[in-house]
Amino acid sequence: MSQNEATQPGADLENLLHETRTFPPSPEFAAQANATVEMYDVAATDREAFWAQQARELITWSKDFTEVLDFSGAPVARWFADGTLNAAYNAVDRHVEAGLGDRVAIHFEGEPGDTRTLTYAELKDQVSRAANALTELGVATGDRVAIYLPMIPEAVIAMLACARIGAPHSVVFGGFSAEALHSRIIDADARVVITADGGYRRGKPSALKPAVDEALAKGTDVRHVLVVERTGQEVAWTEGRDVRWGEALEAASPEHAPVDVEAEHPLFILYTSGTTGKPKGILHTTGGYLTQTAFTFRHVFDHKPETDVYWCTADIGWVTGHSYVTYGPLLNGTTQVLYEGTPDTPDKDRWWDIVEKYKVTILYTAPTAIRACMKWGEEYPNKHDLSSLRVLGSVGEPINPEAWIWYRNTIGGGKTPIVDTWWQTETGAIMISPLPGVTAAKPGSAQVPLPGISADVLNEAGKPVPNGGGGYLVLTEPWPSMLRGIWGDPQRFQETYWSRFENMYFAGDGAKKDEDGDVWLLGRVDDVMNVSGHRLSTTEIESALVSHPSVAEAAVVGAKDDTTGQAVVAFVILRAEAVSRADEEGEGGDVVAELRNHVAKEIGPIAKPRSILVVAELPKTRSGKIMRRLLRDIAEGREAGDVTTLADSSVMEQISKGMKAG
Ligand code: WTA
Repeated sequence: MSQNEATQPGADLENLLHETRTFPPSPEFAAQANATVEMYDVAATDREAFWAQQARELITWSKDFTEVLDFSGAPVARWFADGTLNAAYNAVDRHVEAGLGDRVAIHFEGEPGDTRTLTYAELKDQVSRAANALTELGVATGDRVAIYLPMIPEAVIAMLACARIGAPHSVVFGGFSAEALHSRIIDADARVVITADGGYRRGKPSALKPAVDEALAKGTDVRHVLVVERTGQEVAWTEGRDVRWGEALEAASPEHAPVDVEAEHPLFILYTSGTTGKPKGILHTTGGYLTQTAFTFRHVFDHKPETDVYWCTADIGWVTGHSYVTYGPLLNGTTQVLYEGTPDTPDKDRWWDIVEKYKVTILYTAPTAIRACMKWGEEYPNKHDLSSLRVLGSVGEPINPEAWIWYRNTIGGGKTPIVDTWWQTETGAIMISPLPGVTAAKPGSAQVPLPGISADVLNEAGKPVPNGGGGYLVLTEPWPSMLRGIWGDPQRFQETYWSRFENMYFAGDGAKKDEDGDVWLLGRVDDVMNVSGHRLSTTEIESALVSHPSVAEAAVVGAKDDTTGQAVVAFVILRAEAVSRADEEGEGGDVVAELRNHVAKEIGPIAKPRSILVVAELPKTRSGKIMRRLLRDIAEGREAGDVTTLADSSVMEQISKGMKAG
């Protein structure tokens, strides 16, 4: 197999179907594993009793629940509804009360090489002070708080401080623009924003506070901005509104009584891309979410609190950071690494240096990162002692078998189990994954729904496909950490997830069952792209493009990319004035650069198209629908497929000519 084929991303059906290798667990691993094969049977016998048991074993309730699941208000589920609890108490205080206050909760590694260690006792102190500081700023139970921070301990502290007072947090990824931050603040009606002066990225300080100032200048109901000092860079200051985090926490008491909330009290809102231009505020509540994140962390990663050092490379701006940096790990009393920066700063072995330094035992990352490391070459990991690693996880997109094998051999020393975990912002926690010590792993397949989870693959008509068949992935029974809706838009919740197939959750992913009934994920079947494991909506980027005065029309597709899985490719029709300008400049040069920057400004640098092609026409059906399938063919370097349904069949010829010339 050529180098190029070996690094192709995973959703390639042909490739996957020829993959027959399996990796059974070693007897030594199986003998010490948390998960057992019996768990599947126990859960299948009485699913609700199984989850009730997990909820009681893994979570501390201030008032026990009597009812497990109420789905009478479907599609909105209520889990453990008459129980009460506090998320921050569960993540922090109870470990201190159990005498584990001196255990390290967070080993922080800043990108410039500065480090900080926070024990559970110190974390409790910080979270309590921050909760008091938020209360002092007028934040009450139920109020929303936006968090816009780099990957520093304050990100986790801020989330837990909100949870401690029952104020739902809305974390906005630090790479999103002021525009994107503004629309999220407005949608959630946030009252306070927690940010930092900046963070370190690629060897230099990168400012965050200016984006907050810009977002608030557009008009919001935000009363205060709490500013963490990270880089020490100069920031503009609005007296009366802006408050220094350091000063506020110092002035606050380290004593704070966590607020008991009902199990269904909102814990957070997290915005994610959907098939329309407007991001969806995915709503998660407390009891069920904590139960499933705690359960999956313990069993999918085989976590042992006394001996493991865990590291998840995800940013807290994404759901993986919520469930597997903040909640799942801390609920289990883990010791974890938190790293601020990029994998190649100062050099391409930074991650492996961190693994060696902290003796990381469990590593959770994304296929796009693994493929990037493969490209850089194995001399980087080979410089370091990675023998502490014992479980490796993958999330965010299909992992192609070659990357899987490289991950296991080069990073895992040919011995570690790999867990390929399928889930979504909406599912809150891992849903489909092998269990280490139990499942014989197949490279490229997420394989089996976890105990207590029911999934299936349906055909167009909504019938389960037989083994060997492909179709749409659905979840057939409610699960504890399921989303409780889209913030402020119950109708969209119903339409997006519950209208495609009756009484079933439609995930938006294509999937296949192999001869053993194991599930292989094949990528999105809707207008959502997956770029480096980040969800982006084609419509959202198209809207950003047409909001530029030079653009008349735009079509965006996700084209296959060796490293990032998919890449954003845009086709635009310019307005007449812009066309003549572009002609003067030749090849549309400046206009294209301007449009790429415009998208970065409207959404964030992650949404910048890899390429923009200026075209005279877009391929449309007679009813005016843009045929993105044909554009994807062009973007991926193929001859365009069937053009017979086009209103004007010569359009594709013109576009491919333009592509070749460009
Ligand atoms: C994709 C990230 C294949 C899928 C946790 C899903 C995966 C979307 C996997 C959710 C996997 C996630 N194999 N595809 N192991 N994990 N996906 O909301 O398309 O950012 O629908 O959540 O990522 O992305 P989200």
